[in-house]
Amino acid sequence: MKQPIYLIGFMGSGKTTFGKLLAKALNYEFIDLDHFIEKEQQATISELFEKYGEEGFRDLEKKAIKSTSHLRNHVIATGGGAPCFFDNMDIMNGLGTTIYLKLEPEALAGRLLPGMSHRPLIAGKSPSELLFFIETKLAERAPFYEKAKLIVDSSGLTPEDTVRIVLKAL
Ligand code: S3P
Repeated sequence: MKQPIYLIGFMGSGKTTFGKLLAKALNYEFIDLDHFIEKEQQATISELFEKYGEEGFRDLEKKAIKSTSHLRNHVIATGGGAPCFFDNMDIMNGLGTTIYLKLEPEALAGRLLPGMSHRPLIAGKSPSELLFFIETKLAERAPFYEKAKLIVDSSGLTPEDTVRIVLKAL
C-alpha cells in the first residue's frame, strides 16, 4: 500500500486530466478534492463561495485535505488555492508525494477561457483581466507550489507525456 499522491497547481494546469491518467497508470484511485467537497456539502464551489465566502471555503478545503490522511494508493487533485492556505502544503508533504504541474500564465489563460463561469475567482473577467489575474496570483502562489516534492513543467507536453515523465521520476 502506497502513500497518496497530491497534485497541485494553478487552475487550468490540467490536474484532473493528468491525475486520471496517472491513477490509471499506477492502478490507483483518483479523487478530485473540489468534487469531494461539492458532494459532501451538496453544493457547487460557486455556491459555497457565495454562502460562506472564500474564507469558509478554505476551511472546508483544509478539512477535506485532512480527511485524505488515511488513503493509500490514491491520486488526489487539489484546488488551485489549496496549497496556499494554512499549513496545507506541509500537511500534504507529510502525508504523501506532492507534484506541482507548472505552466506559463499564457498557457493557463488559454485553457481557462472556455470554462470560467464555474470558477468564482475568475468568473466574468475579460481575457486581459484574466491574464493579469493569473500573473499576479501565480507570483503570489509560486512559493507554496514550489514546496512540492516533484515539479513538472508541462508546457507543450501532452498529458500522456507528462505521465511518462512523472512515472520515471517517482
Ligand atoms: C481555486 C481553484 C479551483 C477551486 C476554487 C478556487 C483557486 O479549483 O478550488 O474555484 O483558488 O485557485 P481548480 O484548480 O481545480 O480549478
